[in-house]
Amino acid sequence: MELDIAPWLNMAIRWLHVITGIAWIGSSFYFVWLDNNLEDPKEPKKGMSGELWSVHGGGFYHKQKYAVAPEQMPDNLHWFKWEAYFTWMSGFALLAVIYYYGAELFLIDNSKMVLTQWQAIGISLASIVGGWVVYDGLCRSPVGQNNKLLGIIWFSLLTAAAYGLTQVFSDRAAYLHVGVIVGSAMAFNVFMVIIPNQKKVVASLIAGESPDPRLGQIGKQRSLHNNYMTLPVLLMMVSNHYPMTFSNPYNWVILAGLAIVGVLIRHFFNLKHRGQTNYALPFAAGGVFILLMMFASDMEARERKALSKGVEASFNQVQMLVTKHCASCHAANPSHESFEEAPGGVMLDKPQFIIQHGPRIMEQAVKSDIMPLGNETGMTDEERAILGKWIENGMKVDD
Ligand code: HEC
Repeated sequence: MELDIAPWLNMAIRWLHVITGIAWIGSSFYFVWLDNNLEDPKEPKKGMSGELWSVHGGGFYHKQKYAVAPEQMPDNLHWFKWEAYFTWMSGFALLAVIYYYGAELFLIDNSKMVLTQWQAIGISLASIVGGWVVYDGLCRSPVGQNNKLLGIIWFSLLTAAAYGLTQVFSDRAAYLHVGVIVGSAMAFNVFMVIIPNQKKVVASLIAGESPDPRLGQIGKQRSLHNNYMTLPVLLMMVSNHYPMTFSNPYNWVILAGLAIVGVLIRHFFNLKHRGQTNYALPFAAGGVFILLMMFASDMEARERKALSKGVEASFNQVQMLVTKHCASCHAANPSHESFEEAPGGVMLDKPQFIIQHGPRIMEQAVKSDIMPLGNETGMTDEERAILGKWIENGMKVDD
């Protein structure tokens, strides 16, 4: 029996990551929704700041919120933290399995910066830790008193980080890393601030003291930040599937624009749950989205026009290029040491397969430079232009 552990491990970790991510985001959205919908209590008890009724799963729920804490510790208190911790741990494991273990293929792009595997991993780790130190410092500084100002500064710094990372890593690794920085800040918010503060509140309740109200306020602020960071992070995590977002020199601008779209949509729902529906927000989000789409498509068209000027392409040339740059991995029996079978099931070692996969070759190797993975064979823009020309001309074999 032969065991091919790597892809199964990859799948299992990704599965876990998606499940725990859904659980975390679900509970996080739910509690922000609760907070936004609380009403003044009809029969207030001491410390009670709001209540609400809801119906779900065949029954009615009556929730009451005690800002800071009730007078006495309840017998049984439910905590929400493992969803966040497991999302981060599984995400980090996935980062390690794909981008650290496979750094040469997925993380490093020698045409941007020549890095060893350990240098690249070092930069990745430094960006995660650095991101948290900067964000947490901002929250604790006087800027932290003003959520709007803090949001603008944090957003600008992240955009600068996106620019920096696209100069160092492969484009899709750079996109993913911005997501990892923000996602880690969210998880560390839970681990380093929200839960420790809640523990302090519980400890003072048990000791019969009245807890410091600032502990609750700080926790609420961090949880609000997490709420706004969620939608952009989700997009960054799935961005790998959408080369049109990151396969141009202004990809960091597009990333910033998409983040704005996510924040506007989240803001719309937060206001709506407080009874302040503002349709300008989704329209603005849609407008920014359309502008980004136009901008990215235009950039792409210009770039390809410039490259394919005067290029002639015959099937012979194409077949030679594919053999040189693709077939070491994309063959029935790959000769590349990292692969035992054709990755993604895509084989390019026969003419009919090259034609069959024409449109996907266009996405992966002409419109973007995702393939050849890690560009180990140093495929040039001119060579990509030849592939593009041949596909555009209808993939003819007989010339
Ligand atoms: C070093 C190995 C390697 C080389 C060389 C390589 N690929 Fe790939 N390719 C992969 C892997 C791995 C995947 C699986 C997708 C992933 O994880 O990104 C893939 C996926 C693909 C896909 C499917 C993507 C999708 O999801 O639609 C296409 C198409 C493709 N490659 C085309 C090419 C072309 C064209 C070349 C040459 C210009 C090439 N590849 C060179 C490793 C390679």
